[in-house]
Amino acid sequence: MERSTAIVALRFVLLSCFCNFFVMAQWPKGGTTRFYNFKVETMRITKLCNTKDIVVVNGMFPGPVVYAQDGDRLIIKVTNESPYNVTIHWHGIRQILSCWSDGPSYITQCPIQTGQSYTYEFTVVKQKGTLFWHAHVSWLRATVYGPIVVYPKTGVPYPFRSPYQEHIIILGEYWLRDVVQMEKAVVASGGGPPTADAYTINGHPGPNYNCSANDVYKIDVIPGKTYLLRLINAGVNTEHFFSIANHKLTIVEADAEYTKPFKTDRVMLGPGQTMNVLVTADQPIAKYSMAMGAYQSGQNVPFQNITAVAYFQYQGASPNSLSLPATRLPRFNDNLAVKTIMDGLRSLKRGRVPKEIDQNLFYTIGLNVEQCHSPTPQQNCQGPNNGTFAASMNNVTFVKPQLAILEAYYNNISGHFTEDFPGVPLKFYDFVNGAPNNIPNNTQSLIGTKVFVLEYGTRVQLTFQDTGTISTENHPIHLHGYNFHVVGHGTGNYNPQTAKFNLVDPPYMNVIGVPVGGWAAIRFVADNPGVWFMHCHLDVHQSWGLGSVFIVKNGKGPLQTLPHPPADLPRC
Ligand code: C2O
Repeated sequence: MERSTAIVALRFVLLSCFCNFFVMAQWPKGGTTRFYNFKVETMRITKLCNTKDIVVVNGMFPGPVVYAQDGDRLIIKVTNESPYNVTIHWHGIRQILSCWSDGPSYITQCPIQTGQSYTYEFTVVKQKGTLFWHAHVSWLRATVYGPIVVYPKTGVPYPFRSPYQEHIIILGEYWLRDVVQMEKAVVASGGGPPTADAYTINGHPGPNYNCSANDVYKIDVIPGKTYLLRLINAGVNTEHFFSIANHKLTIVEADAEYTKPFKTDRVMLGPGQTMNVLVTADQPIAKYSMAMGAYQSGQNVPFQNITAVAYFQYQGASPNSLSLPATRLPRFNDNLAVKTIMDGLRSLKRGRVPKEIDQNLFYTIGLNVEQCHSPTPQQNCQGPNNGTFAASMNNVTFVKPQLAILEAYYNNISGHFTEDFPGVPLKFYDFVNGAPNNIPNNTQSLIGTKVFVLEYGTRVQLTFQDTGTISTENHPIHLHGYNFHVVGHGTGNYNPQTAKFNLVDPPYMNVIGVPVGGWAAIRFVADNPGVWFMHCHLDVHQSWGLGSVFIVKNGKGPLQTLPHPPADLPRC
């Protein structure tokens, strides 16, 4: 590979237009401001023998890669030429003092309406690795998503042997239906969502799906070389396993934070999770399957069970040779496989966890069922026991307000949220095996826009507890504006007497897959003022209300105050 600056510059010009988005070899120069233009628009696409319009960015599916170097400033102008309301979230970017650019609709901003634009501006502060961006309104992120690749500062090497090449692998879920209509229809029905029509790897379902024998992604590899795969789960409603037939994966990074190298046959990523893995082409010359299949821990939750396949093809292998099946993909409900991966994740850096805590929070997470109030129950109450599906944290079902909470908070506009989110459940019971009451079609969650307020600098411990209401399930919980140390996790009800914590080298993440019927504890220091959404990254659960908000107040120091909103902040 050429190393000259000219080539690097040229390569980046090319990368920002059209070519080879998923193969990268060179690092950009650092310490700069990078400008991107995102045009959100509809594009006609044919998949699974079906032609339809999908919403995409810059005519690409998946969308363009945002490249940066640790310390860069990114200025991204998003123009909405689609018929839908749009926002873009830069998932995993810490957004230090730039909450206005975070992107979740009705939390930090009102959506960008058709014909309007909004410029997101933020600095990447002490982060490097793989993240991604996605629409944060309705279920548009089913097609509006793309990678973020952050390289270390110039001269700072990876903490592992430099790979021969890097490839981005984005897992997705594809529907033939219009996803915005679909979300509305699902919520109106009171029942569950239809399963994805296909899982996709870099937008391609692969040969197991109808009409998709040639709609397949492929990486060409040279025998003996080591490759860095930047895995992103941009899926919508399902968690996923990923594996490569006959090959080991070595996890070296999760959620854009280095981990101790961990060798495994497979990984599991919930929607929102990213992971860098090394894989060496050390097997006999052949064409191997890279496979993506569902991890579905909930009982009786329908899911697409056709595996998406891409190829890991050795130079010299006959292209028509049969690919080896993905023998390493676990069964869809293999909870032990997931636990093994979680247990293996260790931060490369030690000693960063706050030892003392100021605020000890305990949030239950799970599904609910509300009593049917519709005059047309067949249409609107298709949930369990003829009720309607809902979801909650601490039995509070989150409702998005009409005005962005950040705007309401910043400008002191009352009536859009209340500051009474409970720090612990209002009622304690056997969360995993019991129920909050004995009414099978009404679990009586409180419905509202409740937030929890944190003083600047608070050292928070937050324990998530999965509930068994309707069904236990692994929930990928994402916190905006922060990474957190995952200090503990386990099965069953959390018991502070017996729970084992790792305060030395726990992984530092932005999504935690809370174990099915179990708990996970995180710690973070509330040092970034703003309004921060925290929610299940399964979109259907988010639509049902599995979310909550932290308001972190300004501090007293010089760089502890949220700046004014930008002039082009969209209006509701
Ligand atoms: Cu990746 Cu609130 O989302």
